[in-house]
Amino acid sequence: MEVAALCKKNHQSEVEPLAVLSGKTIANIFYENSTRTRSSFEMAARRLGASVLNLDTKVSSVAKGETITDTARQLVSMRVDAIVQRHSASGAAAHVATELGDKVQIINAGDGWHAHPTQALLDFFTMTEIRGSLSGARVAIVGDILHSRVARSNMWLLTKYGVDLNVAGPPTLVPAGLESFGVTVHNRLEPAIEGCDFIMVLRLQMERQKQGLIPSVGEYKKLFRLDHARLQLAAPGVRILHPGPVNRGIEITDALVDDESKSLIDAQVANGVAVRMAVLYLLLTGKESVQ
Ligand code: CP
Repeated sequence: MEVAALCKKNHQSEVEPLAVLSGKTIANIFYENSTRTRSSFEMAARRLGASVLNLDTKVSSVAKGETITDTARQLVSMRVDAIVQRHSASGAAAHVATELGDKVQIINAGDGWHAHPTQALLDFFTMTEIRGSLSGARVAIVGDILHSRVARSNMWLLTKYGVDLNVAGPPTLVPAGLESFGVTVHNRLEPAIEGCDFIMVLRLQMERQKQGLIPSVGEYKKLFRLDHARLQLAAPGVRILHPGPVNRGIEITDALVDDESKSLIDAQVANGVAVRMAVLYLLLTGKESVQ
């Protein structure tokens, strides 16, 4: 987090990009759509002086049957130093890392429903900017927990730092056994957000709702959409996070997304660059701090 704070200062200043990763090449391989993660990794790499190779997976040889490991292997032969990979299959980044991790840094930019580590890091960074230590902070993650890699990564991270963490969603969108993460599970929004310092709202993954996991979007909105009235239950200074993309009016009201006194959504996006600069710097220099 200290390195990310220094990276943020650099990124926000008018100074020239750093040259600490000069001569290094970062490859972005995104098999799933992305606005924030891919752009911020690219910006972070350039800000540190690295070159960026964006593989266009729609016209790559994956479409001809090449495996994702072989695809990554080609880029390793071209001497890329890190691969930032997003894939719809849980475990995809770990799989490629098992095969090629001795030759290249593999960074997971989201794998299926499993994990989105740099998103959790930027969420953590954004909350600590507001509150300092998160030990004892009350945080709720609400919505489509089942399909959310962001929820899982945040559960792993926040519980390690002493956060009192609630998760809430309709029973069909909350997997069984989450208590083993050290979180409290709710199937109603109101008790989950009571007294919370931060509420992280998740996107209702519309593309996955055809399986009939919720009766209707209208009912979901009635029971789980966060608005200013429900926010009265939270702590007075409560702040709202959302990893994006936002379904305005479905999981959160338009007015709340745009309420700068409550919403940290723009800050999360800005911090994504700083946190990813820190990740690239630490991984590719092997240092443990800025020297
Ligand atoms: N938060 C997030 O992963 O956004 P993108 O899908 O736009 O990268």
